[in-house]
Amino acid sequence: MRPGRVLVDEEAIATRLAEMGAEITADYEGKDLLLVAVLKGAFMMMADLARHILLPVDIDFMAVSSYGAATETSGVVRILKDLDQEIAERHVLIVEDIIDSGLTLDYLRRNLEVRQPASLEIATLLLKAGIQRVPIEVKYVGFEIPPDFVVGYGLDLVGKMRNLPYVAVMEED
Ligand code: IMP
Ligand code: MG
Repeated sequence: MRPGRVLVDEEAIATRLAEMGAEITADYEGKDLLLVAVLKGAFMMMADLARHILLPVDIDFMAVSSYGAATETSGVVRILKDLDQEIAERHVLIVEDIIDSGLTLDYLRRNLEVRQPASLEIATLLLKAGIQRVPIEVKYVGFEIPPDFVVGYGLDLVGKMRNLPYVAVMEED
């Protein structure tokens, strides 16, 4: 397997993140906003999106694991690293790289809701359209994509290819 056709190029990502940042800036004006990125995949999205949010935001990270070394979702979610801070009464925006089955975010959302944030929303760069196994409300979506396995811009195949500056579809050699 190798990265093949570019699905979302660098320029499209940059343009869309600027739009999403502007939208988020308007929506959270005057509010105490905490951005929570889901590691490892969302590290690049977090860095780029945060620069387009013109508010004094706080950032934090969670690490969860829903995949083993396979490219199929297991439905099993483990918290590998929890937040460093309390989120009660705060406005929390989860920053994700991709939503596939939706099981990871469904678990995460319920886990964070128990902590009683003032609000809890989701921003994802990519959404595999129509294949979610659980209903999931996503406030900010970068791009809807087909259900192919993709890599780059944070997304990996067995740990590699996260550093590609674009999103590409995997192809057979
Ligand atoms: P979900 O729980 O099925 O929605 O999967 C969410 C997680 O699976 C994402 O945060 C990614 O880490 C990983 N994932 C889902 N689809 C892809 C893909 O196409 N490429 C790389 N990782 C993916
Ligand atoms: Mg991920």
